[in-house]
Amino acid sequence: MALSAFVGHPVREEGNADPYSVRMVQEFDKVGVVGLGTMGAGIAEVFARAGFNVIGVEIDQAAVDRGRAHMDRSLSRAVGKGKLTEDERAGIESRMTFTTSREELADADFVVEAVPEHMDIKKDVFGDLDRICPPGTILATNTSSLSVTEIAALTSRPDKVVGLHFFNPAPVMKLVEVITTVSTSAQTVDLVSEVAKRVGKTPVAVGDRAGFVANALLVPYINDAIRLYERRIATREEIDSAVQKAAGLPMGPLTLADMVGLDVCLAVMDVLWEEYRDQRYSASPLLRRMVAAGRLGRKSGQGFYAGTDEAPEPIPTGRYAQMIREEETLDLGEILLAPQIDDAMRMIGDGYATAEDVDTAMRFGCGYPKGPTELLAERGAESVVTTLVAMGEYDLTSIAVPAPLLMDQLPDAEEPHGGCACQS
Ligand SMILES: NC(=O)c1ccc[n+]([C@@H]2O[C@H](COP(=O)([O-])OP(=O)(O)OC[C@H]3O[C@@H](n4cnc5c(N)ncnc54)[C@H](O)[C@@H]3O)[C@@H](O)[C@H]2O)c1
Repeated sequence: MALSAFVGHPVREEGNADPYSVRMVQEFDKVGVVGLGTMGAGIAEVFARAGFNVIGVEIDQAAVDRGRAHMDRSLSRAVGKGKLTEDERAGIESRMTFTTSREELADADFVVEAVPEHMDIKKDVFGDLDRICPPGTILATNTSSLSVTEIAALTSRPDKVVGLHFFNPAPVMKLVEVITTVSTSAQTVDLVSEVAKRVGKTPVAVGDRAGFVANALLVPYINDAIRLYERRIATREEIDSAVQKAAGLPMGPLTLADMVGLDVCLAVMDVLWEEYRDQRYSASPLLRRMVAAGRLGRKSGQGFYAGTDEAPEPIPTGRYAQMIREEETLDLGEILLAPQIDDAMRMIGDGYATAEDVDTAMRFGCGYPKGPTELLAERGAESVVTTLVAMGEYDLTSIAVPAPLLMDQLPDAEEPHGGCACQS
């Protein structure tokens, strides 16, 4: 539904079916942010910068002070870099208030929750928000991995509950994923997307599934790279530079793993595994062991590169050695890109996100110069399918059958495939 189709102020006249209609974005005054940690402080800043009055809620005064200090540092950095004037900073600060009482959200038009990633804490917060906020208030969670559907079902307004997944650091990263459940109304999705644009972000609408778009495409690809490294098929440098060269990425997957944190990568893989129970989402044993050993990447000082000058030399043996001998044209970069393109085609084919939104998510959330469907167009479906099939022969991919939508792109595909037609 187009935004213009609904964002009139609700007219409380007789016959108006929904007395609890949301207000139009232009009328939003107060935005609540619950939890002012790494993400919440940044989210509060984003809204205050865009001109909204923001009320930040924390558990106690010490946490308020930490959140405030976080915002202060961020605003000082922006002023230091010339991205904000002192006057603008003063304006932002004047629009921010802080409290330890959720009751003060009684007149909030829109609330974003950014408390720790535990369902019990989220449930407690949402139960309260539903009781305290007016029935028209839209409630959003910044969860990375929990079920938005489950959170929405706790409230009396599941049609007005969404996921609003900001990326870290929130003031800098352009992407926000707007996660909808089976209960979210089209009005709410349009309104939240409009809010996201108002605060200078690029929203993409996705269904409520593990990993949403960006994490579901990025982390299995990092996991694939770890598997190649674990099997000693190539050095870390060869793996990283091959993908950088193939897709023009700012950094390779093992460098990225060190930066994101190996614990975060493992947590995402485990969430994907929990949801799909598909071998594609089983974490590499090496990833699991490195996390168990406390080698979490940059944050712990030890990872694939961090704290490790020397890495094991590749020893291509068995089927991999055979592959390298026989498939001289099978490029390491393509080996890592083809499954990711396939994952993206599966996502689009399932109607979970549009091709445009998938490309936008990877460009703005992961710094890809080109999204997966653009990478596919560049290579052609035949080349991607050939790579996947060859990888299957040499036991290099967990993808048993390429996505039906990918097969449909083959030049000789006569009509859209359904189910397992592509197995032939
Ligand atoms: N850190 C990231 O990179 C990142 C990125 C995207 C999404 N997220 C998601 O954002 C959410 C917050 O993550 P974070 O990294 O900012 O966590 P964090 O631990 O840095 O911050 C959480 C804040 O919530 C506060 N809090 C705890 N219980 C509360 C309560 N009952 N009421 C109000 N405040 C409470 C804590 O005091 C803390 O300041 C999580 O759902 C996480 O999955 C995190």
